[in-house]
Amino acid sequence: MKRTKIVDLFSADMLGKEVSVKGWVRTRRGNKHVQFVALNDGSTIRNIQIVFDLAKFDEEQLKAVSTGSAIHVTGMLVESMGKGQTCEIQADMLEIYGGADPEKYPLQKKGHTLEFLREIAHLRPRTNTFGAVLRIRSALAFAIHKFFQERGFYYLHTPLITASDCEGAGAMFQVTTLDLENPPRNEEGKVDYTQDFFGKTTALTVSGQLEGELGATALGAIYTFGPTFRAENSNTPRHLAEFWMIEPEVAFNDITDNMELAEDFIKYCISYALDNCRDDIEFLNEMYDKELIARLESVLKSDFVRLSYTDGVKILEESGKKFEFPVYWGADLQSEHERFLVEEHFKRPVILTDYPKEIKAFYMKQNADGKTVRAMDVLFPKIGEIIGGSEREENYDKLMQRIEELDIPMKDMWWYLDTRRFGTVPHSGFGLGFERLVLFVTGMTNIRDVIPFPRTPGNAEF
Ligand code: 4AD
Ligand code: MG
Repeated sequence: MKRTKIVDLFSADMLGKEVSVKGWVRTRRGNKHVQFVALNDGSTIRNIQIVFDLAKFDEEQLKAVSTGSAIHVTGMLVESMGKGQTCEIQADMLEIYGGADPEKYPLQKKGHTLEFLREIAHLRPRTNTFGAVLRIRSALAFAIHKFFQERGFYYLHTPLITASDCEGAGAMFQVTTLDLENPPRNEEGKVDYTQDFFGKTTALTVSGQLEGELGATALGAIYTFGPTFRAENSNTPRHLAEFWMIEPEVAFNDITDNMELAEDFIKYCISYALDNCRDDIEFLNEMYDKELIARLESVLKSDFVRLSYTDGVKILEESGKKFEFPVYWGADLQSEHERFLVEEHFKRPVILTDYPKEIKAFYMKQNADGKTVRAMDVLFPKIGEIIGGSEREENYDKLMQRIEELDIPMKDMWWYLDTRRFGTVPHSGFGLGFERLVLFVTGMTNIRDVIPFPRTPGNAEF
């Protein structure tokens, strides 16, 4: 008999039919006459209850059906008398694929802390919480492709190994095949990278944007969606050393178009999740964050505030609020400042624009005031910065001047400058941190809990 996924037991009209299900046991309880097993197969947050009549099954055999074991059951799907479920399976065949020693299987009962579950990240997908988070994450990834594909954007695959530092922050993971114990040296006694795999120093990318711009100035509109690496030593609930980023880049878009795209894009993703992951979001709303659904719906309804950095700083200065980090014009805003603007002052998402050039990357379009650049950060409740982007400096001379001021090594960037030498156009783009979106949609509070296997300083287990 063909296996039915548990999610389909609840949706299709299968009552009164013989079904076959396979999955992992969540709990077993009962007495000498009847045993009840809650089975989950990952297809939904909901378990199917399986009823074992001990007239038909051996009590000893059922003992092996412990929490965490994998089983196959066939039986009749019937309406359930018990509360909390609509249907259940009256078992007539049991096959045990693999037991799970109750003394050793770490996920015995509910109520483990998220911290403990991080230590067993290899097993946590089997919990309700991580099942829900990972299903939502998958749905959001699909929504992202759907959004861009429906709008004629091309999915561009940018390299993960690169010789250029897009954000200029220098927080890159070096990639080398040299023997670190005994590297080749040149005449000056320095490590001789001409003998390295690529003949020069390379690192894991911090952003696909520079290559994305090459795509946009040929295909018109592209997006990237891939892993991104930052070796910054930030141990915060919002930073990962390996995260996924989505970077759309559009020729002929100015910053206003860019802001509209960002707002439409985020709203589309949130509403896709609300429409397609209702059970999982309701579970998280119930268990972790009673305001989750209300917050998601409120963001969908509100127009994002658009505000210059200069005006934002004025609001912060005049707020009279004591911040841990001081605010003044020129300061890089901290999450506490961003969240004050969003959560307390405006009570809706804010797009902050026109930041001081000193705190932003070299490629951003310079404003006529000589002090600010056409940057935009989208700030979200609970998250702070969820998107960072800008209109790009398309003028070769101005871009070159900025590169020189910042002392950026151009020997590996000649190809990027060619976009400004040959058929340069105004263009804009942004990067959305995928895990920050997943954080927002799930209501989780630590970014380590929205990626299956988090990489953070000091942690690359699993
Ligand atoms: O603001 P960022 O650094 O911008 C860029 O990388 C640009 N090249 C994007 C572009 O214009 N194409 O990063 C973009 C977003 C941030 O807003 C944040 O959501 C996320 O990426 N992000 C991180 N997420 C998790 N862990 C980290 N360490 C992150 N650093 C950035
Ligand atoms: Mg940023």
